[in-house]
Amino acid sequence: MLSNVLKEIIREKIAHGEHPREHAVDVMLEIQKHHGHMSDEAMIEASKLLGMTPLELEELATFYDHIYREPVGKYVIRICDGTLCWMQDHLSVVEHIASRLGIRMGETTPDGLFTMLPVCCLGYCDRAPAMMINQRIFGRLTPQKIDRILQRLRDEASLAEAE
Ligand code: FES
Repeated sequence: MLSNVLKEIIREKIAHGEHPREHAVDVMLEIQKHHGHMSDEAMIEASKLLGMTPLELEELATFYDHIYREPVGKYVIRICDGTLCWMQDHLSVVEHIASRLGIRMGETTPDGLFTMLPVCCLGYCDRAPAMMINQRIFGRLTPQKIDRILQRLRDEASLAEAE
């Protein structure tokens, strides 16, 4: 259930536009910021606020990579499987991360910290193989570099928890 505060933020967002549906993606991202993903209930409530049917909103949610219909980890690791990354052995990146985190593609670690998903070209082809974690892009990945990144994120999460 969306809080009244969140509904107010959404109403404020959609007030500036010809039609509320223009802001559908923004609204879903805002909801995710508070709830982590777009649950069925959130989809229904958001569609009402946007003047859309739940099916129309579902179609948009399916189209956009960054809208999550299932719960995801604090850090969403998107590994590029575009042509250039594929040529630079992106599979070894997938295998390395999978072995370090003990999850397969599409899964989330039991501690809720990491989710691993595929993504098509990140526009970082000259630094393939590449991945994106939340809003940060990393390229020229090697097993050592991946280990450092994962460790940094674990440290960051522990620090945030301790605060
Ligand atoms: S193919 Fe991977 S970043 Fe372009």
